[in-house]
Amino acid sequence: MHTTTSQAPIDYRDLARGDRVHGSLYTNPEIFAEEMSRIFYRTWIFVGHTSEIAAPNDYVRKSIGTQDVIMTRDRDGDIHVLLNRCAHRGSIVCNEPRGNSSAFRCPYHGWTFRNTGDLIGYPFRQGYGESGPELNLASLPRVASHQGFVFASMATDGPTLAEHLGPAAEEFDRLASLSPEGEISLSCGWIGHRLNANWKLLFENDADGYHPQFAHRSVIAATNTHIGDLYSDRSPVTAHDLGHGHSLREMRPVYRDSPPLSWAGASEERLPDYATQMRAALGDRADVALTDGPPNLMVFPNLAIMDIHISVFQPLAPDLSVQHVTAVQWNGAPDLNRRELQQTVASVGPAGMFLADDAEMHERVQQGLAMREPEWVDVSRGLLRERTDEHGHAVGSVTDETGIRAFWHEYLRLMTAEEVA
Ligand code: FES
Ligand code: FE
Repeated sequence: MHTTTSQAPIDYRDLARGDRVHGSLYTNPEIFAEEMSRIFYRTWIFVGHTSEIAAPNDYVRKSIGTQDVIMTRDRDGDIHVLLNRCAHRGSIVCNEPRGNSSAFRCPYHGWTFRNTGDLIGYPFRQGYGESGPELNLASLPRVASHQGFVFASMATDGPTLAEHLGPAAEEFDRLASLSPEGEISLSCGWIGHRLNANWKLLFENDADGYHPQFAHRSVIAATNTHIGDLYSDRSPVTAHDLGHGHSLREMRPVYRDSPPLSWAGASEERLPDYATQMRAALGDRADVALTDGPPNLMVFPNLAIMDIHISVFQPLAPDLSVQHVTAVQWNGAPDLNRRELQQTVASVGPAGMFLADDAEMHERVQQGLAMREPEWVDVSRGLLRERTDEHGHAVGSVTDETGIRAFWHEYLRLMTAEEVA
């Protein structure tokens, strides 16, 4: 058995190998703590969407790793991500899940901070001398967005968001291109599913095209969907490592063989307003958009864009996570949005059929990983038949573990990198 002690540094190269990863990576509290500092408190983390704070002074509470943060829009429209910890003696400052306010007043001793993080008032000023305390809410040094998806990094330097996303950025563009207005909103609210499982199991599962035929067998049989065909060894769907831990399931070969809007489980006849608006807005390009549909994209380390819904993975402890889900809403497409919201609720909502299956698997795997033997988790599927694309990235079949290995490559890079910001 591998043992890890606080004296010996953890050898991540030994634990995360190309074809297998060690079970302790999902259970060891010391590894979990290092993941927070080396991954969640360093690289770009998806926080929220600009549509969630559309008006000046809107705010919404979010998380980065185990840290509670407030995403705010100041009166000038600039977006800030603040740690939700009073600079005086540490109380949580903002207790509401969302709202509109130019300032946050700490309930403990009444210090007040602007939504930029700056301290603007504190009671009984005489206690602090002439200049007063210069203590603000901690503000993340780097905040950037792409297609309204807001990411933040606790590191003061490092790759830009564009460098981090690389070719994944185009997939966000493809998602937005399905709106007649060229924009999406995440305006339906989020459901949080609390799972007794490590956060990496949640990410790996959404990158896994091997399980649907089996874990979701009853849903596929009951709903007569085409999903079973997509996730089979005969499927033309491919799995692409996009670099930096991101991966794509490329569904377009199937949708290009099908009528427009097949990806939505619909047709032009069933969504006539949407089809008309898209043709008016995009002209000749509408056909491509309506046929190709949205991406099936994993964004390291905490975001999944699963065609019509979004998942965000929040780590709480080695064996405890929250999966936050919401439906994508395409601006200017009410008939499409109604349909896709219903689909999202049915698949990953409170009684969502797909999420219920996956949650059961996550918790069973977490229980299994607590056992001593065998020590390893196998992630080798497809390794021998993968090819390499023109960017040097691996391409596998849809049931291959290509996207999971993409995750582990970036994981290992970050966990073994020299400097920690
Ligand atoms: Fe916030 Fe004292 S802890 S004002
Ligand atoms: Fe699933």
